[in-house]
Amino acid sequence: MNKYEIAVIPGDGIGNEVVPEAMRVLEAAAEIHGGLSLQWSQFSWNCEYYLKHGQMMPDDGIDTLRSFNQIFLGAVGMPGLVPDHISLWGLLIKIRRGFQQSINVRPAKLLRGLESPLKNPKDFDLIVVRENSEGEYSEVGGRIHQGSDQIAIQNAVFTRKSTERAMRYAFDLAAERRGHVTSATKSNGISHSMPFWDEVFKEVAVDYPEMNTTSTHIDALAAFFVMKPHIFDVIVASNLFGDILTDLGGAIMGSIGIAPAANLNIERKYPSMFEPVHGSAPDIMGQGVANPIGQIWTGKMMLDFMGYRELGELILGAIEDTLQAGVRTPDLGGRAKMMEVTDTIIANLKKRA
Ligand SMILES: NC(=O)c1ccc[n+]([C@@H]2O[C@H](COP(=O)([O-])OP(=O)(O)OC[C@H]3O[C@@H](n4cnc5c(N)ncnc54)[C@H](O)[C@@H]3O)[C@@H](O)[C@H]2O)c1
Repeated sequence: MNKYEIAVIPGDGIGNEVVPEAMRVLEAAAEIHGGLSLQWSQFSWNCEYYLKHGQMMPDDGIDTLRSFNQIFLGAVGMPGLVPDHISLWGLLIKIRRGFQQSINVRPAKLLRGLESPLKNPKDFDLIVVRENSEGEYSEVGGRIHQGSDQIAIQNAVFTRKSTERAMRYAFDLAAERRGHVTSATKSNGISHSMPFWDEVFKEVAVDYPEMNTTSTHIDALAAFFVMKPHIFDVIVASNLFGDILTDLGGAIMGSIGIAPAANLNIERKYPSMFEPVHGSAPDIMGQGVANPIGQIWTGKMMLDFMGYRELGELILGAIEDTLQAGVRTPDLGGRAKMMEVTDTIIANLKKRA
């Protein structure tokens, strides 16, 4: 029996609802496998914790998480209680940076049984590889002066090491897929970091002569996501570009509630963290209507990363069977409650086993 210690941080809002649902599916998958045991340890670090303790996680939070194989997270943020920049930087970004989770992987795919909001989408199946440790989301900057003299400076930081690492990951991923990497650039408007990004992309591409490459400005790329998403295979993007593009990826799939994501420490020195693209959705919390698919698909990505790809495929198949049967939450135009969707996915998983 292979045992894995998983740290669970449900977080805020619907994170507390969808995480237990995804755990039910992963438990069912582990049972089907027979040789896999998932040991869950839960941590209630969220905005309520902040209101009690003045911080999003204890001082030794990172040390506590270090011994786990992986981290399974719901969503963090409750803007009515704690400003978003405090909750995000106090927990999510602390973990991403503390464990060098330098690659964020976010797939978008036309799922069987689901209508995209696009009118006539061809079958699309793409993965965005987002640089996750620096870029536009840097801590370098500050504010000076008061009142109408105030100045805020936010510096974007691009190192060769992290830029190259994200690109190499994208090329390696494309080598297992359809062999096409698109680089998201904006070198016509951002005159220092983006020409640098383009240079590194060209240099890395030389090591992968069998791959097809394209460099596309992020604004055009966003439009192509709507007009012809089927042309993409793997897209490599900076932290901000990748973040925005993947919400759009969720939207063209049908709902942000189904979009999964993984923050990977690709060196496997530290735990990686698996969390869906969506946030805590305060507008629908407590109603039992949150779509659990984003969190469940995120669990599939965790299994993939742990080497259980066949089991992961089984879960994705069961998700598609469920959608095809019309069992959908309201964000996908359905009437099913969250738990009914999960129950159906588990039943379909057992049928496929
Ligand atoms: N990774 C994260 O933890 C993460 C990501 C994004 C936003 N946030 C935080 O979440 C809070 C709310 O942010 P927001 O409203 O901009 O984004 P959000 O993703 O929480 O919600 C956007 C919209 O999508 C809907 N939605 C999201 N997930 C859904 C699901 N699973 N099922 C059905 N509908 C779903 C919501 O109801 C809402 O209408 C903020 O505090 C924000 O900072 C956290």
